[in-house]
Amino acid sequence: MAVHAAARGRTPNDVITATGLVKVYRQGTAEVRALDEVSVRVQRARFTAVVGPSGSGKSTLMHCVAGLDTVTSGSVVLDGTEIAGLSDRQLTRVRRERIGFVFQSFNLLPQLTAYENIVLPVTLSGGRPDRELVDHLCEVLGIAHRMTHRPAELSGGQQQRVAVARALVARPAVVFADEPTGNLDSRAGAEVLTMLRRSVDDLGQSVVMVTHDPAAAHYADRVLTLADGRVVKDEHTAPSGRAAALTTDATGRRP
Ligand SMILES: Nc1ncnc2c1ncn2[C@@H]1O[C@H](COP(=O)(O)OP(=O)(O)OP(=O)(O)O)[C@@H](O)[C@H]1O
Ligand SMILES: [Mg+2]
Repeated sequence: MAVHAAARGRTPNDVITATGLVKVYRQGTAEVRALDEVSVRVQRARFTAVVGPSGSGKSTLMHCVAGLDTVTSGSVVLDGTEIAGLSDRQLTRVRRERIGFVFQSFNLLPQLTAYENIVLPVTLSGGRPDRELVDHLCEVLGIAHRMTHRPAELSGGQQQRVAVARALVARPAVVFADEPTGNLDSRAGAEVLTMLRRSVDDLGQSVVMVTHDPAAAHYADRVLTLADGRVVKDEHTAPSGRAAALTTDATGRRP
């Protein structure tokens, strides 16, 4: 196993190893090089933030390493599997089995209750929800009393916490969050960020979050900065950043 991993140029501790990623979008005769030779390794059980100006390639990077979009060239090893070059069907399976997503727009199914939304990734893949984990997540996320409500009956912050629970419930190799606080006020945003932070510290979850917001990036262990489709900065924050994130109060202020 170790030899196999080494042969692929990754360590088992990496949940994502992206090498030489290039993504070119073609629009008519124009070409946009959204990713320009990006190489990055993401460790397990860490909270990684991806920041950078609008159009720098943050979402494109996330979509390419999460199997939501194909790369023009380069390699993406996700949880030990090379996903560049997989068929749509194979990618769907990788996403379903190994990835959890949290989007800016929550993306809950309006006709399902909060509980049904949360367990959907498990039931879709034919499994049985781990009731204990679901209860634990809902307790920690402060949504236990909202399980029979439909999304329209929940606040934005509650909806996003349901989405976080849904992303975590199948114990994916990695949770990707694209601007998870973009539609929330600062208080609800801080709650969601605290939940993502706790999923890393308490459950050992690997989380990759795309954000515009420097305050949101403070919750991460590591901040990757993109500009013009390249990684221009890679900062690892000290454990104090972790402690600071955990002691942030619900309004997002630090003591
Ligand atoms: N489907 C697409 N077709 C053509 N060009 C695209 C497509 N998606 C993204 N791009 C272009 O690729 C570049 C990177 O876009 P991307 O969405 O990754 O940026 P971003 O950093 O996520 O920006 P934002 O902060 O505004 O969300 C931009 O120039 C964008 O216009
Ligand atoms: Mg984006």
